[in-house]
Amino acid sequence: MSAVRIGPYTLHNGLILAPMAGVTDQPFRQLCKRLGAGLVVSEMVTSDMSLWNTRKSRMRMIHEGDPEPRSVQIAGGDAQMLADAARANVELGAQIIDINMGCPAKKVCNKAAGSALLKDEALVTEILQAVVAAVDVPVTLKIRTGWDRANKNGLTVAKIAEQAGITALAVHGRTRADLYTGEAEYDTIAAIKQAVSIPVFANGDIDSPEKARYVLDATGADGLLVGRAAQGQPWIFREIDHYLRTGEKLPAPELIEVERILLEHLAALHAFYGDVMGVRIARKHVGWYLATLPGAREFRAHFNRLEDTEAQCAYVRGFFAERYKSLTGDGEGVAA
Ligand SMILES: Cc1cc2nc3c(=O)[nH]c(=O)nc-3n(C[C@H](O)[C@H](O)[C@H](O)COP(=O)(O)O)c2cc1C
Repeated sequence: MSAVRIGPYTLHNGLILAPMAGVTDQPFRQLCKRLGAGLVVSEMVTSDMSLWNTRKSRMRMIHEGDPEPRSVQIAGGDAQMLADAARANVELGAQIIDINMGCPAKKVCNKAAGSALLKDEALVTEILQAVVAAVDVPVTLKIRTGWDRANKNGLTVAKIAEQAGITALAVHGRTRADLYTGEAEYDTIAAIKQAVSIPVFANGDIDSPEKARYVLDATGADGLLVGRAAQGQPWIFREIDHYLRTGEKLPAPELIEVERILLEHLAALHAFYGDVMGVRIARKHVGWYLATLPGAREFRAHFNRLEDTEAQCAYVRGFFAERYKSLTGDGEGVAA
């Protein structure tokens, strides 16, 4: 995988943290970037600026302190509103605008946004042209392979995107109708890569260094988006990066490193969201980190009842102390 360019930005690798609402907040983005991602993308921000005054929207629009280049995803179904939202986010510090035409979430689709837009190619054209014209920064697009299996128009949309001045394209190898079921397919992504000359990133079910290699080979893509597999294992980016460069696998992180990363992540969530919201949001992340470790279920049941930051940190430390004791007696050099 050679260096990837998005407009004026050269990414140190083509591994991108896929935007995930409720997951890829600033603390998680910072962590993934530090652990090897070439680019991280914000949670989607609605293009309806009348909704920007909620706490949730405000937290999503803090771009200050984000790793550069700062890619901010916007979602909506109206060209003018999306253009205005793009401009406003650039003023707030976005360096890349990513348009969401890939998300099947009901809330988005009910307003004919996200992947529902793929059905209406004229509207897609109008939106892409409007947003590209509205801002001076690169505009990228995230799509699925089509509306449903009978209407896999991802290739047509990709060509529309290139024509409209989109700088790079991410393709999730499922149709909107597939939701998250079945396996992602990569043939359509390969066809799209062949058909356009802008960088194409493949996405869907990439959960290991070997799978990353496979998907790159199968699609010819310029890079990859990794979503769910980064939850609770943000180090997956350095593992994939290392494997793609050397053909060798890094050992799994030692338990002591997992503990350090998790405690740092916890502290960052508490600081970013404040105590009350931070404690709540930390629960799912902590659950993901520990999901595969013995005793995780009992841990979670108790952890999810804790109501303050100190108690959360102390309980995580206690969990790891127990693990060290049960595995080695001294805790050194234990792989997670
Ligand atoms: C919890 C969750 C939230 C998501 N939110 C968004 C979003 O805001 N914007 C978007 O374009 N895709 C969103 N997605 C889709 C992901 O970016 C990605 O395309 C999908 O999860 C497939 O990649 P994966 O198999 O690596 O997870 C979301 C996915 C999940 C699981």
